[in-house]
Amino acid sequence: MRVIIEKNYEKMSEKAADFIASQVRRKPNSVLGLPTGGTPIGTYKELIRRYNEENLDFAHVTTFNLDEYYGLPASHPQSYYQYMKQNFFDHINISFNRVHIPNGMVRMDEVDAYCANYEELMKEAGGIDLQLLGIGGNGHIGFNEPGSSLGSRTRIKTLGQETRKDDSRFFENDIEKVPKAALTMGVATILDARTCLMLASGKGKAEAVKQAIEGPLTSQTTGSALQLHSHAIAIIDEDAASALERKDYYIYTEKMRAELEGDY
Ligand code: PGA
Repeated sequence: MRVIIEKNYEKMSEKAADFIASQVRRKPNSVLGLPTGGTPIGTYKELIRRYNEENLDFAHVTTFNLDEYYGLPASHPQSYYQYMKQNFFDHINISFNRVHIPNGMVRMDEVDAYCANYEELMKEAGGIDLQLLGIGGNGHIGFNEPGSSLGSRTRIKTLGQETRKDDSRFFENDIEKVPKAALTMGVATILDARTCLMLASGKGKAEAVKQAIEGPLTSQTTGSALQLHSHAIAIIDEDAASALERKDYYIYTEKMRAELEGDY
């Protein structure tokens, strides 16, 4: 895994936007996999700025969101549908018929077919070119909680107590108001993306980041599955990098990479 350490949240967000912007400029009909949460907000802001000021064009881009709370209608203020509209889609020229966000209101007896169809839609779109990811305090990617099969596909997943506690900040700090489950891409779904870009910021993520990047490959930290990916890049700030044992090595290799790119 390539590990890029940036000074702070702003720099991390800019770097992530660099990768996404260059993907979209290189291939205007790119398929992007998108996350929600606190971490990517700065990246979305920077992409909106580039849309407004630097002609970054999303007109032909297709998107698939990683997950959605189960039981929340799209109109609910805390649904990921609302999050995506407010933080990104309403501010760029994306076409809503190319936006895909799991529907959290699918009837329980239709969930399996719905999730299989979500996978089918990704395939039909040509597969995800670039999957942006956050990482949970418990090491999850998407809502693939500890213990999720590394071979999992899109499905319904019960949320762990730690995740519900983390997310209660969006639900008036009342854990009881946090949905009990989510529809989420599986670990194997995520690994199908051609590039995976994992972001992390802050000391609260340092241990999860260490486990995902340097720990053993284990379903207990689903972020560690990125070690299997041939083109996974972690963009993390110094606080999130603070527990890494090989931090100096990652800084060295990025420096060498820049020198090589300058030389050739
Ligand atoms: P956060 O969530 O960006 O809100 O920290 C990340 C995650 O749980 O995947």
